[in-house]
Amino acid sequence: MHIRPRRLRTTPAIRRMANEHTISTSNLIAPMFIIEGEQIKQEIDSMPGYFRFSLDLAVKEASELFEMGIPAVLLFVKAADELKDNKGTEALNPNGLMQRSIRAIKDAVPELCIMTDVALDPFSSFGHDGIVEDGEIVNDATVQVLAQMAVSHAAAGADFVAPSDMMDGRVGAIREALEVSGFSNTGIMSYSAKYASCFYGPFRDALDSAPGFGDKKTYQMNPANIREAIRETLLDVDEGADIVMVKPGVPYLDVVRAVKEQVDIPVAAYHVSGEYAMIKAASARGWLNEDQAIMETMLSFRRAGADLIATYFCKDIVRLLKNNK
Ligand code: PBG
Repeated sequence: MHIRPRRLRTTPAIRRMANEHTISTSNLIAPMFIIEGEQIKQEIDSMPGYFRFSLDLAVKEASELFEMGIPAVLLFVKAADELKDNKGTEALNPNGLMQRSIRAIKDAVPELCIMTDVALDPFSSFGHDGIVEDGEIVNDATVQVLAQMAVSHAAAGADFVAPSDMMDGRVGAIREALEVSGFSNTGIMSYSAKYASCFYGPFRDALDSAPGFGDKKTYQMNPANIREAIRETLLDVDEGADIVMVKPGVPYLDVVRAVKEQVDIPVAAYHVSGEYAMIKAASARGWLNEDQAIMETMLSFRRAGADLIATYFCKDIVRLLKNNK
């Protein structure tokens, strides 16, 4: 036998030389959940080890993340029930929790890239990403509000807005609104291929944003489809997206790869709340080694072609990279 692939796995040094993919802190985006109040750090039941922070502590957390080498945070806020309606009023409030959070974090850690969620669900009395009329999530009226929402985030200092709603034409409308409002440097990270997934469950607990009726299948994508993901992504690129994203992560790595082969801008993938919860739950029972599960998962994203990974494991990854794991 002349050809023995195992030769390239003989020693740690040789394995290092033959290594094809790496994970770096520069690839990571840390989602953050912000709530009203002061001095609150509240663990999310279905996301053990992950927290909702009041803004004062969120500012500290954001600077800690930046000091650790994480380049970006992705902000989500929890709106009080009495602020929710069917028009996204609170989403546009210049003094809303999101806008205050952007300003406070930008002020404290100006170099950190602030990305913001643009969708109506945390502000919707129906828990839907858009305006509801006769049981339907209406597209064009929603897109107008999303464009205003994006401008209000940009005005507060967001570096990137991240529309996660899956309405048609929203990237183009947001781009146009940002340009005419003088925010030509504000980027768009578009959730281009976002599937109607059960893996968002814990996130909806975190923000109390589960849909009040029905599901999200008329706007989020059918898990059976991949050609449609390419179509959605190419539309977003055409409309002016700077970064495209696939979501969820691991169950959709084939989509990440397919998208990567079609676009020449950065591709992000979202390792979502349910994926976090699965690793946490199995590790808590001693069924998986948590640290190894985290790093193997991150490598799978990189192998599939993800340039950026939004994950709730950012701090663990920094620790593991430091320890050369
Ligand atoms: C809301 C939004 C969701 C997530 C990100 N933005 C939930 C949803 O679409 O219902 C999910 C993130 C996660 O599960 O980690 N537009």
